Amino acid sequence: MAKMHVKMTVNGRDVEALAEPRTLLIHFLREELALTGPHIGCDTGHCGACTVDLDGKSVKSCTMFVAQATGTSITTIEGIAEPDGTLHALQEAFREHHGLQCGYCTPGMITRAYRLLQENPSPSESEIRYGISGNLCRCTGYQNIVKAVQAAAEQLAAAKEAAE
Ligand code: FES
Ligand code: FES
Repeated sequence: MAKMHVKMTVNGRDVEALAEPRTLLIHFLREELALTGPHIGCDTGHCGACTVDLDGKSVKSCTMFVAQATGTSITTIEGIAEPDGTLHALQEAFREHHGLQCGYCTPGMITRAYRLLQENPSPSESEIRYGISGNLCRCTGYQNIVKAVQAAAEQLAAAKEAAE
């Protein structure tokens, strides 16, 4: 099958490649770019394990072709920590509050929560539950995930206040 030229920014790095038109974004990220943080849980748009941030929106990367992502800017879980490896407040909070068990949903969950907190820096519990409702977790019962997102929101707000 003829390949297409695709070009995008991923975690701040310019990426250009040839890809088959049928290639899904999740497969491109994992197989071409070796970004295996975003997981494949269902491949049908249901679980959210493959969530990435694309031009300021949470996107389930199994639901789009890589060709559709040409010209966009993408952040995966690998791009959420600081370049020096310092974890993002959400990553710290998930660790601290036991927001994961097997960890399969965690990259998508944190990437989704990252966008949620950009859109709403101090969400209520129900706003968090609604905000992550496209991401399924079969282990935790969600309670500690919600606590972790709340803790991260408080931490980010305190850091912002201290910087002002
Ligand atoms: Fe994409 Fe489940 S793998 S939503
Ligand atoms: Fe196992 Fe969420 S921690 S699926």
